[in-house]
Amino acid sequence: MSETRTPTRYRKLVIHQATGDFRSSTSVVDEAWRDPGSGEVLIRNEYAGCNAIFDKNLCRNAVRYVDVQPPFDMGVEAVGKIVAVGTGVTEWREGDCVAATRLGSGYREYQIAAASKPIKVRDATAEILALIPSGISAMVGLERIGEVTAGDTVAVSAAAGGLGHFVVQLAKLHGCHVIGITGSDDKLAVLRELGVDRPINYRREDLREVLAREYPRGLDVAYDSVGGEIFDTFVDHVAFRGRVVVSGHTSDFDQEIEFVPQPRAYRKLYWKSASIRGFQNQAFPEFFAEAAARILDLYYQGRLRALVDPTPFTGLDQVADAVEYLLAGKNAGKVVVKLR
Ligand SMILES: NC(=O)c1ccc[n+]([C@@H]2O[C@H](COP(=O)([O-])OP(=O)(O)OC[C@H]3O[C@@H](n4cnc5c(N)ncnc54)[C@H](OP(=O)(O)O)[C@@H]3O)[C@@H](O)[C@H]2O)c1
Repeated sequence: MSETRTPTRYRKLVIHQATGDFRSSTSVVDEAWRDPGSGEVLIRNEYAGCNAIFDKNLCRNAVRYVDVQPPFDMGVEAVGKIVAVGTGVTEWREGDCVAATRLGSGYREYQIAAASKPIKVRDATAEILALIPSGISAMVGLERIGEVTAGDTVAVSAAAGGLGHFVVQLAKLHGCHVIGITGSDDKLAVLRELGVDRPINYRREDLREVLAREYPRGLDVAYDSVGGEIFDTFVDHVAFRGRVVVSGHTSDFDQEIEFVPQPRAYRKLYWKSASIRGFQNQAFPEFFAEAAARILDLYYQGRLRALVDPTPFTGLDQVADAVEYLLAGKNAGKVVVKLR
């Protein structure tokens, strides 16, 4: 154990009552220390990733595959260092840097994980945290669900966000023409730096008009995590054999379901042989190990940037601030919380 003194307790964030709102649902509580058991490792979390939409959905008990019964441990992804290994663990040593993703293990100072679960990384940095799992999701969603190929015209919404900035870069690496959509002029500059061919601020330019005028052939891949009018526009502008990837719907995830009078979807898709494909990373675990190895490799080679939003959030008491910041759409890149 490399810690100078073993603490008897540590802190974690829990839902104490699912009110629908993150701040009032959650509180920081103490957890009693426990040493790792056989086949387990103890990780000291250095940074936790903010998944505000998922976090808020937990506070609404609206995540389809989870039943939130308070007290409920919060946070999914973290990077940190192994500080103790249990009996029988041979693959890890104290001081090893890891990334770990498991529901309930992110927003806490320490976590215990099965030794087979963490991913070995070179450093426990905020950039590595951005890659795992947002970069992995971007890669799986774009390649496996969007079936991207060289020469495709690819449109990406929330293109400067934690997930989106990886989608645009990966599409460029695949040799695509990339349209990056954002809601702010500041983020247009970010998109240009990432190599986006046609950045669009949809609040200033009419997305439908731009696509009709500049992309009459349509979109081969339209990667959407915003929903609403952006999703409708993507469906209307999908190309022959094009794929619209539904990777989230940030703009209305916590709103009443909107009923929109539209022609039935097959009217828009059939003659184009186009498709709308849902992507929720939980459903595709078989692709994750390979994608994790490849995304880290691209980053280590300097071929992929991991953007971390510069606004600092420190400690478990500021997780709610981080969540509200992301929900306000202010971020560019991944929002992280520094835990040490
Ligand atoms: N499919 C999966 O497995 C998977 C995995 C991870 C995340 N997700 C989903 O992907 C989406 C992005 O997640 P993220 O953590 O990377 O967030 P993010 O994209 O970093 O942040 C959300 C962004 O959405 C945009 N936005 C558009 N309309 C908005 C509105 N009404 N309110 C707030 N923001 C709005 C904003 O960017 P602009 O100003 O540029 O529009 C904002 O910065 C979420 O819906 C999340 O649930 C899905």
